[in-house]
Amino acid sequence: MTGKLEGRKAVVTGAGSGMGRAIAVRFAAEGAAVAALDLDHAAAEATARTIVEAGGTAHGVQVDVSDSGSVTAAIDSSVRALGGIDVLANIAGILDGYAPVLDTSEELWDRIIGVDLKGVFLVTKATLPTMLEGGGGTIVNMASIAGFVARGGGAAYTSAKHGVVGLTKQTAADYGAQGIRVNAICPGAVETAMTKKILEDGEAAVIESINAVPAGRHAQPEEIANLALFLANDESDFIHGAAYVIDGGWTIV
Ligand SMILES: NC(=O)c1ccc[n+]([C@@H]2O[C@H](COP(=O)([O-])OP(=O)(O)OC[C@H]3O[C@@H](n4cnc5c(N)ncnc54)[C@H](O)[C@@H]3O)[C@@H](O)[C@H]2O)c1
Repeated sequence: MTGKLEGRKAVVTGAGSGMGRAIAVRFAAEGAAVAALDLDHAAAEATARTIVEAGGTAHGVQVDVSDSGSVTAAIDSSVRALGGIDVLANIAGILDGYAPVLDTSEELWDRIIGVDLKGVFLVTKATLPTMLEGGGGTIVNMASIAGFVARGGGAAYTSAKHGVVGLTKQTAADYGAQGIRVNAICPGAVETAMTKKILEDGEAAVIESINAVPAGRHAQPEEIANLALFLANDESDFIHGAAYVIDGGWTIV
């Protein structure tokens, strides 16, 4: 049986931890050669090692998605290692501690927007020429329920994730006819290092909101990887510019 991404070349950012790691591992299990990119080089290498030990193909690459020079170098290195790119998953992201505007310093705003929104723009911009040269591809952007509602993060995070949904639609509209499909994933609470921190350090009202999920639990990163796989492979061929909520019902109540 062949995998759903057999022969594809995939770049995954934030691949050193949480959902990025689960997505990199799942894409590789479905036959993709993977460049696992992360700010934490050792973590990126560890994900690549896990994939190789399971019989797949992967390379760990260091990147700071908020820095254009670093992004160019990492995408160049990924193209050299993989021989092209036809799947991109923009997963790297950081949380703002649910800070409202008056508690958001200019430095925090710039840092969150820099990683969570500008990072998606920079990596997409660096990858598109290679994808277009190869005849097309798929891009999966990690937004959040904070891309729709106001209780998934603070001012900077919610603004950045709304921006990711907008950038997803605009990129899909601009490049769809050239064979590029771009879609976004909008999870609720997922059991990763990010959620663990806010559940440990957050205010009681924030924790109560995160725990008020009709599904009665938080998601595992692998459940989000299932959706990323669907949006990355040909089964979702007519889906362009969509933003999929996957939140256990968090935003319906
Ligand atoms: N955990 C949740 O409940 C949740 C819900 C919705 C959306 N998200 C989003 O999912 C994505 C992944 O989050 P996670 O929960 O797996 O968190 P995580 O902290 O486990 O993983 C995030 C990864 O991104 C990397 N990273 C951070 N800054 C970077 C940078 N500048 N350049 C490159 N890599 C960088 C980190 O090193 C880490 O490996 C994020 O975009 C986050 O906003 C998370």
